[in-house]
Amino acid sequence: MSRPAFASWLSQTNDVTQTFLNAGQIPDLINLAGGLPDPSIWPVEELAQLAHKAVAEHPEAVLAYPPIEGFAELRHLIAQRFSTGGLTLTRQNVLITTAGMQGLDLVGKALLDQGGLIAAQSPAYLGALDAWRPRLPSYRPIRLQDEGFDPVAALDGAQFCYCVPNFSNPTGRLVDLPMRQAMVEAAQQTGTWLVEDDPYGMLYYDGAPLPRLLELSATGKPGPYDGPVIYLGTLSKGLAPGLRLGWVIAAPEMITALITAKQGSDMCTTGISQQMAIDAFKTGLPERILPHILDLYGSRRNALCAAMAEHLTPWFDWQVPQGGMFVWARAKDPALDTDKLLKVALSHGVCVTPSSVFDPEGQDRGAIRVNFTLNPAERLAEGTRRLARAVDALLSGKA
Ligand SMILES: Cc1ncc(COP(=O)(O)O)c(C=O)c1O
Repeated sequence: MSRPAFASWLSQTNDVTQTFLNAGQIPDLINLAGGLPDPSIWPVEELAQLAHKAVAEHPEAVLAYPPIEGFAELRHLIAQRFSTGGLTLTRQNVLITTAGMQGLDLVGKALLDQGGLIAAQSPAYLGALDAWRPRLPSYRPIRLQDEGFDPVAALDGAQFCYCVPNFSNPTGRLVDLPMRQAMVEAAQQTGTWLVEDDPYGMLYYDGAPLPRLLELSATGKPGPYDGPVIYLGTLSKGLAPGLRLGWVIAAPEMITALITAKQGSDMCTTGISQQMAIDAFKTGLPERILPHILDLYGSRRNALCAAMAEHLTPWFDWQVPQGGMFVWARAKDPALDTDKLLKVALSHGVCVTPSSVFDPEGQDRGAIRVNFTLNPAERLAEGTRRLARAVDALLSGKA
């Protein structure tokens, strides 16, 4: 008896992803690979009270199947939070999702036919590549920082353009205001949807937040927003990822398409998290905990960059990110293969993410992503020393 084969997209993933996802099992490993928040930032007591309140006070709403599009009150609150002088949002512009990851998945379902073209900021978030892989899309890599980059040519003919303007995962890079404006103008000119994935938009350690693509694409017209930006938000980084609570803000016709896609995905996002989000927003909980998160992560960013300057300067170049969770370091020596470095680093007790997993073709083996939010300063310094020893061993053939 032979069983039917698995779908062909499953063989498109690479084993590097599995290697670093399994690395958590290794004792005393310093994990600089993940993109995880520090659990100490979670307001456990308040969240426990909100969870109790949600079930005790709203059992008929939260224990039932909520509407596919989410609770009207939560959609309205999000519309209000993201409206600005020129940008009028209503709840028709908002879909509640099972965190940001589902927003990515639904956009793929709504816009991609088999083999569709995505213009994606390069390198790109691994989770987005994973979400869209079943459609076997083709990618047009876009490198916003390249001299002569032409946004209209980059977007033209793609089903959508994927961009993380605030502290991209993996590069930690911030897209500047003129480039934000140029991307929005290109989306308006070409008609291409512009996906603004924004899990790190609250994590600015230096400088004031730049306007979102969503805001820049507002026309000032009254009535629900009708522009080309599909904005993806989440509570994962500013409150807690276990809530699995996110939202999409987009033109009503896009929200309608995404609702149809969500119906066939999970039918609805749990009402318990939705009610907790309503109460968290109403009592200003995210705003109350943010200063502590910024202090903690900002000082860890500084600690990691200082340790890297001390131990990794001979081998890597990087820029200090102004926010987010990651430093992206490119090897000076093109012969340094970071897929191989991952294996050697694991044997030295440290884990980083190699660049190949952020490249749809898996070809870029010249950089690493280093996370600074999960570990305290002394572990970041020790992890960096271990990484330096691993690079030395790999390059000197002693690995
Ligand atoms: C760029 C980017 N988008 C989306 C997500 C999804 O996060 P969540 O599903 O927890 O909201 C992440 C998580 O790390 C991310 O880095």
